[in-house]
Amino acid sequence: MISTDALHEPERTRIAVIGAGHLGEAVLGGLLRAGLPARDVAVSALPAERAHILAERYGVAAGTDDAAAADGADIALVAVPPPAVPAAAAEVGPALPEGAVAVSLAAAVPLARFEEALGPGRPAARAVTNTAAAVGRAMTALVGGIHLDGEARARVGGLFSGIGSITWVGEEAMDAVTAVAGSGPALLYHLAAAMAGAAVDQGLPPGEARAVVVQTLFGAASLLREADRGPAELAAEAAAPGGTTREALDRLDAHGVPEAVAEAVAAAAERSGRLAEDAGHR
Ligand SMILES: NC(=O)c1ccc[n+]([C@@H]2O[C@H](COP(=O)([O-])OP(=O)(O)OC[C@H]3O[C@@H](n4cnc5c(N)ncnc54)[C@H](OP(=O)(O)O)[C@@H]3O)[C@@H](O)[C@H]2O)c1
Repeated sequence: MISTDALHEPERTRIAVIGAGHLGEAVLGGLLRAGLPARDVAVSALPAERAHILAERYGVAAGTDDAAAADGADIALVAVPPPAVPAAAAEVGPALPEGAVAVSLAAAVPLARFEEALGPGRPAARAVTNTAAAVGRAMTALVGGIHLDGEARARVGGLFSGIGSITWVGEEAMDAVTAVAGSGPALLYHLAAAMAGAAVDQGLPPGEARAVVVQTLFGAASLLREADRGPAELAAEAAAPGGTTREALDRLDAHGVPEAVAEAVAAAAERSGRLAEDAGHR
């Protein structure tokens, strides 16, 4: 449950989700699941059919007009594609009540560019989060804007804490966080698909293979989170000399998998930087 002041006492917090695509819907679903009343949420989405589907699915007010969704909101979450951020922010900024906060969830768009498009004096933040928000397990990195005071910062932090874990970082860390927290879930799904496929090749029925892989990933992530040892130590503990795990890890190392993962993360971080440059943001 979201238990912070952000969503409960002393007063309601109304949320706007601007551009509810894959990420926006995941955040929307996570907030509702955490206890945010649907009546306190307004959504904008394109095309109109998509807005209609979201209204039906979640019982929230939804339309295609960004300013209408932002009107009366305390926090607006802008989850449109990066090139659409300045135009959406220019709609949202003037429509928000005084003191309301706008948060950009877009990759690559610098906070200063977002603030400029919102209009003068608007409290703002930039967040990199991920679609695990839908199940309350997002990893969100936040950067606070120049007009975000302590109270507004606590409201934004409280909101994202309701859908997972948060960390406040400097903006120079955002390309790296985008690569790991933003793109990270898909990297892990990619590995999970390869493991499940291999399990089928080894004779497991597909449904069984999927269930075994999912529970194994979930168990490993849970242990990683709670154990007092890091990932390298846990891997070493599981890989007795001459055993099956050692055999598998040696094969991964021979194929350069750790280097390939590092290269993939670096490429995603570089891409995040290039996206900003291509859009003229840097
Ligand atoms: N998906 C992730 O895991 C993830 C992770 C980290 C960050 N992000 C960031 O989150 C943002 C959204 O990504 P996504 O994967 O959710 O993309 P997406 O599924 O394409 O969602 C974006 C949605 O916004 C709509 N849209 C565009 N302009 C709009 C406007 N002015 N008002 C209302 N809706 C508008 C798009 O409609 P049309 O398709 O009709 O244009 C689309 O439905 C991006 O900036 C991305 O960098 C995503």
